[in-house]
Amino acid sequence: MNHAVTVTELVKRYHPQAPPAVDGLTFTVGQGEVFGLLGPNGAGKSTTVGVLTTRILPTSGRCLVHGADVVARPAEAKRLLAVVPQRQNLDRSLDVRQNLLFHGRYHGLGRVERVRRADELLALMGLTDLAGRRVERLSGGQAQRVVIARALVHRPEVLFLDEPFTGLDPQSRLFLHERIRELSGQGVTVVLTTHDMDEAETLSDRVGIVDHGRLLALDTPHALTGALPGGTTITAQVRLAPDPAGHDGRAAEVVAALSAALAELPGVDGIEHDTVPPAEPGAERRGRCGFRVRTGKDPSVLLPEVLRAVAERGAGAELTDLSVARPSLQDVFISLTGRELR
Ligand SMILES: Nc1ncnc2c1ncn2[C@@H]1O[C@H](COP(=O)(O)OP(=O)(O)OP(=O)(O)O)[C@@H](O)[C@H]1O
Ligand SMILES: [Mg+2]
Repeated sequence: MNHAVTVTELVKRYHPQAPPAVDGLTFTVGQGEVFGLLGPNGAGKSTTVGVLTTRILPTSGRCLVHGADVVARPAEAKRLLAVVPQRQNLDRSLDVRQNLLFHGRYHGLGRVERVRRADELLALMGLTDLAGRRVERLSGGQAQRVVIARALVHRPEVLFLDEPFTGLDPQSRLFLHERIRELSGQGVTVVLTTHDMDEAETLSDRVGIVDHGRLLALDTPHALTGALPGGTTITAQVRLAPDPAGHDGRAAEVVAALSAALAELPGVDGIEHDTVPPAEPGAERRGRCGFRVRTGKDPSVLLPEVLRAVAERGAGAELTDLSVARPSLQDVFISLTGRELR
């Protein structure tokens, strides 16, 4: 695979005494890939993006953007990349369209080409009606869309988005998700940083989780969540067979037997079940019990086994509900760092 971004042993130290902001990061991003860089405040995400976009000089290590070394050949790298910074940096003295045109001129686009490109991007980002508006009169979300439109004027190969969704309403977020998928479909590589695990999970082909400037994990969201031991929970609700009058405690026996059978299934990391209240003496009743089976394996392999165990070992119990809850990236993050991200 062609690598659009290569980061090798990247270190950034702002002060000799302070711990490094980036502490030996190594990763690659494939062409057309959407790569999510996740991590808590101060993890080193913006610093990494800053180095990759030539704004920050690294202390050591090597970064290539489409083959261009960002330290040795910053001008070439800048032609190939675009950045949407964490803090909006539009030219407040210009209107929306002028911001795009100016950027086109900076990148050497001819007049006809930059006018065509600006109008095309204003339409793409739903900004045509705001083309003549002064930047200072835009809402935060509108300004964010202008920054993204501006970034695309010179047709970058790699787009860096540093927390592009902060402050956007749900509609704008979805709109931006679609644009990012479109760009990726056209072969543009997208590197985005975010705190939002759900957003990273839905958008990214692969995710790198960083903390204290180090990479803790890097894989597809599916692989990261799937590899979490006991991370997936299969919940089976069972209606027990009628408890014959006078057979106190039979329901509890069935539940214990079923629980043991489920625990023995291959790939099961743990099991819990509801406590079954003792049957009232003499009363015929059907108790219910919920079983929670935890696994790190693909739940589709385990589901038929759970069904079979209930049929064979449930002594007439009926399955009334079956559900699968996969772990989220948030669960992965907590298991890696022992703390909540937000
Ligand atoms: N210009 C700077 N001078 C000194 N220290 C800095 C500078 N910029 C960032 N840092 C420090 O480097 C570390 C990483 O900061 P960085 O902005 O890269 O984190 P981040 O992951 O982007 O965080 P956030 O989620 O808050 O945006 C932090 O400890 C921060 O205080
Ligand atoms: Mg940041």
